[in-house]
Amino acid sequence: MRLTLNSPLDMHLHLRDGKMLSDIAKYSAKNFAGALIMPNLTPPITTIKTLKEYKERILKACGEEIFTPYMSLFFQESYTPEFLKEAKPFVSAVKLYPSGVTTNSECGVSDIDIKKLSHIFEAMSELDIPLCVHGETDGFVMDREREFGAIYENIANAFPKLTIIMEHITTKESVSLLRKYDNLYATITLHHLLITLDDVAGGLLNPHLFCKPIAKTYEDKEALVQIAINADKKVMFGSDSAPHPVSKKECCGCAAGIFSAPIALSALAELFEQHDKLTNLQAFVSDNARNIYNITTPNKEVILQKKEQTISKEFDGIIPMFAGKKLSWSIE
Ligand code: NCD
Ligand code: ZN
Repeated sequence: MRLTLNSPLDMHLHLRDGKMLSDIAKYSAKNFAGALIMPNLTPPITTIKTLKEYKERILKACGEEIFTPYMSLFFQESYTPEFLKEAKPFVSAVKLYPSGVTTNSECGVSDIDIKKLSHIFEAMSELDIPLCVHGETDGFVMDREREFGAIYENIANAFPKLTIIMEHITTKESVSLLRKYDNLYATITLHHLLITLDDVAGGLLNPHLFCKPIAKTYEDKEALVQIAINADKKVMFGSDSAPHPVSKKECCGCAAGIFSAPIALSALAELFEQHDKLTNLQAFVSDNARNIYNITTPNKEVILQKKEQTISKEFDGIIPMFAGKKLSWSIE
């Protein structure tokens, strides 16, 4: 059995920089036609100049592959409508991180005060620049996304023309929120479709499945699976593939982030096939994103085949999600 995907997209990807970028870009560039690149480098991407330079480095790291990096800026309270207007031709989104909630988010917003930020949201709305949000509070780890729901509602209400993307949603409440507001959309990762907190910490601790937001309950996972496999137009695939060196994962003080780029499409095919929904994979990994972001993509066919593979124990020194496990699908 084979499945041809037209221009698969990964709408939430951490490619890092320097040697890590050179090492890992190929895993996304080979399997995807493009990706929304996260700006949480140190220092983060906050200027047009650094954004353009980073894009050049990414393109170089991707070599000959057909792959478009859709760039994002790291939201700053100091942004002005003039700056955003100037940035518009080069950016596909602005990513808002509450300060300190995840890896490299220290420069994020410490108080999401809608009044204070309204000129930025207004300008983004007018310029049609989507707002991507890491939606977590600093509350109890299992409640952070639920608690952030009120902020999503406030922004969605106050700026009805602003496209808001709830990044890497993990709860059934977030799924319900999508129904309430026309301008709310979401990315869903591979890992949140496959694992719960039990897989992370229910047995022996698995640092390679530790990420922000943390995987939640079985019920939450099922709500995500249903909306993904049914090709709901409000959601799209965003791997949140976020590699860290082994030394930062297998230690006390383990960094948050799961590396899934090399296995993402094969694992998604397996999941969709298990639910007899393979024909909906195209919408989840490409068509929905194209509509939500209003982007054109390079033409690129990626062919999956039902052929067992054993996931490598490491890719250029980075340990992937499900290392050593078997998948029933492979990329041709
Ligand atoms: C990401 C990273 O490592 O950059 N980590 C993660 O756990 N997902 C940041 C993020 O998207 O939260
Ligand atoms: Zn991320």
